[in-house]
Amino acid sequence: MNLSPLQREVRSWLEKRAAILLAHNYQPGEIQDIADLTGDSLGLSRAASQTSAKVIVFCGVHFMAETAAILCPEKLVLLPRPDAGCFMADTITPESLRQKKATLPGVPVVMYVNSSAAVKAESDICCTSANAVRVVNSLPQIQVLMAPDRNLALYTQRHSSKKIHLWEGCCNIHDQLTVAEVLACKAAHPEASFIAHPECRPEVLDLADAVRSTSGMLTYVRHDDHQEFIIGTEKGLLHTLKRENPQKHFYSPSERLLCQDMKKISLADIVASLQNLAPVVSVPPDIRQRALLAVNRMMAVPRD
Ligand code: 13P
Ligand code: SF4
Repeated sequence: MNLSPLQREVRSWLEKRAAILLAHNYQPGEIQDIADLTGDSLGLSRAASQTSAKVIVFCGVHFMAETAAILCPEKLVLLPRPDAGCFMADTITPESLRQKKATLPGVPVVMYVNSSAAVKAESDICCTSANAVRVVNSLPQIQVLMAPDRNLALYTQRHSSKKIHLWEGCCNIHDQLTVAEVLACKAAHPEASFIAHPECRPEVLDLADAVRSTSGMLTYVRHDDHQEFIIGTEKGLLHTLKRENPQKHFYSPSERLLCQDMKKISLADIVASLQNLAPVVSVPPDIRQRALLAVNRMMAVPRD
């Protein structure tokens, strides 16, 4: 692949700092293309915990870099744009969670990784969109509280006999996707298979041929015989889908499937971050220890 001068500069700084670049599947294509590893939240967490690199440049949003910092306190975790946040993660605080827990004594809290370290510290176990069903079904209790994504909890409820208590949070990007938009896209591309992220509303998931995390979508498309796909998640994923499957066609059902926070980091930000070894994302030790318990319990849930 031909690299631009800025892309080459990033790679050269990564070498100088013996750093690794992790990029979420929604990141701008020019960043994904030069990352050491791209993936979904679960894949990137695993990569962070396994890398021997001393410096991790995390291209994603704040909660993802925090998860890396929880897993690797001895490493320097850089988030080139510290203001890259997540609407959903901001729908829950440690205080509001403690209040809810007080109304549900004995009910374990399954916390979506799209949450702050301080919120994870108040939780029993974490989950991602890739393992939510497995995590909930792995618990011995018959009731659980899932937070903060209401849609992910409703999706999980379809695959679990447990009573799942909801938190009224959502992703403002996925939650906006409507049935009308999906039906219009299906009408325009009648041969296309529709794959949706579990952060979409239940009535949208009802139209889906498959529901997957972002990396789950990449795997699904690789192995599915369809030639056309409607992708019910943030548009950034289409970059890798097209690169990996040049003969297949991909359609986004809505122009609004664009997460501004995921697009904040630029190549120039990464260079500056590696030059200055900042901004660093770290988690206070007391919070880290409790959050790590919840993250490690998730990591211990067997894969299918
Ligand atoms: P994935 O873990 O599926 O990549 O999802 C992360 C996310 O933020 C979805 O909006
Ligand atoms: Fe958060 Fe939604 Fe953006 Fe994912 S797409 S980072 S859940 S705001």
